[in-house]
Amino acid sequence: MNAQLAIDVGATGIKGALVDVGSGSLISDRIKYTTPSPALPHKVVKVMNNIIEDLKWTDGDIGIGFPAVVKNNLCFSASNIDESWINIDIQKLVKEITGLNSHTLNDADAAGIAEVAFGKAQDQDGSVIMLTLGSGIGSGLFKDGELLPNVELGRMIYRESVAEHYASNRARKTKDLSWDQYGEELNEFLQYVNRIFTPDLMVIGGGISKKFSNYSHKIDPALNVTDAALKNNAGIIGAAMYAMQMKNKTV
Ligand code: BGC
Repeated sequence: MNAQLAIDVGATGIKGALVDVGSGSLISDRIKYTTPSPALPHKVVKVMNNIIEDLKWTDGDIGIGFPAVVKNNLCFSASNIDESWINIDIQKLVKEITGLNSHTLNDADAAGIAEVAFGKAQDQDGSVIMLTLGSGIGSGLFKDGELLPNVELGRMIYRESVAEHYASNRARKTKDLSWDQYGEELNEFLQYVNRIFTPDLMVIGGGISKKFSNYSHKIDPALNVTDAALKNNAGIIGAAMYAMQMKNKTV
């Protein structure tokens, strides 16, 4: 078994588990802590350290799915996390606080990697878009299984602001939308994404994917849209797969 610890950092919760990267399944409890507010870098990494200790992970590298644009372990944006993260070298900070090496990628890219490997996008040729609907909207774009990292469809200029202010789960809650109203909002956003990318499949992930049947009837059947098979664990599983890949690259 190829066990790997991974952590999924979200705006409201920080979750971690040990993953069997060969089967894409969790092999420990899923540990969840509330994201500190404000989500300052050292505070967030201290929570990661709690998860590492809870899971007694001493085996080395960890994978991290992070809710921002991440290139070479550097954080480049902060729409869904405290602004002080911008330009932070995540690998360096994690090493300072936890003593462990880490590999970080965008959270939705991580979720997409898992869905492509083990979920609904497994046998899908062509282009797949993973959309995670939570506090923001995360997106991962894949062509024949290959990731184009850091595509930010939630940050697309849309109506009066950006798309995630209309179609995220947070928008649903803040605007107190019924499931039908939310389904209509989401459908409009998906139509917009479709107009630009014409993907072969769109996969809906994030916490709200568990409630897919509440709003899926409002989604145009002409769009090929499905809910994530791995639900809200996709981010953890994909981050674990990424860490394993990066580790093997450097060996
Ligand atoms: C961020 C993305 C992130 C998404 C979900 C957005 O606000 O810009 O990078 O993937 O939230 O966490």
